[in-house]
Amino acid sequence: MEFLKAPIVILSLTICCVTSAPIKGGYWPSWAQDSFPPSNINTTLFTHVYYAFLSPNPNTFQFDNIEATTASALNSFTTTLHRKNPNIKALFSIGGGSFGTDVFSNMASSAGSRASFIRSTIQVARKYGFDGADLDWEYPQTQTDMDNLGLLLGEWRVAVNQEAKSTGKPRLLLSAATNYMPEITFDEVCDYPVASINSNLDWINAMCYDYYGPWTPDATGPPAALYDPSGDGLSTSDGLQSWISAGIQRQKLVMGLPLYGWTWKLADPSVHGIGAPALGIGPGNDGSLLYSEVQQFNAQNNAKVVYDTSTVSYYSYAGTSWIGYDDVNSIQKKVQYARSLNIGGYFFWTVVGDQGWKISRLASQTWT
Ligand SMILES: *[C@@H]1O[C@H](CO)[C@@H](O)[C@H](O)[C@H]1NC(C)=O
Repeated sequence: MEFLKAPIVILSLTICCVTSAPIKGGYWPSWAQDSFPPSNINTTLFTHVYYAFLSPNPNTFQFDNIEATTASALNSFTTTLHRKNPNIKALFSIGGGSFGTDVFSNMASSAGSRASFIRSTIQVARKYGFDGADLDWEYPQTQTDMDNLGLLLGEWRVAVNQEAKSTGKPRLLLSAATNYMPEITFDEVCDYPVASINSNLDWINAMCYDYYGPWTPDATGPPAALYDPSGDGLSTSDGLQSWISAGIQRQKLVMGLPLYGWTWKLADPSVHGIGAPALGIGPGNDGSLLYSEVQQFNAQNNAKVVYDTSTVSYYSYAGTSWIGYDDVNSIQKKVQYARSLNIGGYFFWTVVGDQGWKISRLASQTWT
């Protein structure tokens, strides 16, 4: 049998070093249905699109609460995307920032409720034609939550494997939206279950944004900088490097990119750099503007636009209004950075923020 070994080694070396095509993801906010239906999504620019969000019933942990309008939105999401691009993967994202943590924490705390949740996710995926599910638990707050998340992912993977085997259908994809770093501090420092993520998820969407925003009202800041020159670790490079140091398989790490900015009201319009004193939020909906709205604001107010090379971020200001956001140079630099790290890809929150697909197209062309 000795002679068989050499070819096998060569084969496995070949397999190890071929990197798969990057994930080019985008979340679609279902509350934008009327102004931005799924048919508007340019499906040549994305490999994976996420329906945001579905939430389980807080008492049963199952999706037994889907109303007729939601059912029809789910069906139209998957059929529209698959019709436009048969290769695109449609996932439904579960939870989200405003859903909070309690229901997930309760669900993940016992084997019975985890099983109910898992069974229901598979039923929903098949009923509405999804290719997978994405868990958006913001955030596990204790190490017990994190450990239970690790158990959930293991049981979820076993279940989707079994379902694929018994039905002959392609296995459902499993992903999760996570903190930009593999640890997160609430009352205690807690660590994501990286080993379970590696074994059980197809990838994670690291939310590499919101480093500054309305919760830091006293000074302007770059919401999604690539670098943090202060050394405080509030940056996309710090987050991605930390995930890699924590042992995540690089191909399972996907970098978040914001298609929105955060705004501040300057205390003194003549002091307008990064870290300038501020008096809370500026224009926009609770201090946030879509990328396309930032462009509009800048044009209408003849705002001064600055590309800050030390953080790799943009800001603009006009009068007392200050906006931190991403634009062509920072997006291109970040995508090049992610590519050089050999991670799995990138995703946008959200696809409706773009202006004429300018940023989505640039990102896609930067990583072919
Ligand atoms: C979608 O993007 C592709 C690639 O950039 C472009 O050729 C096409 O015109 C776009 N379609 C629409 C409807 O914007």
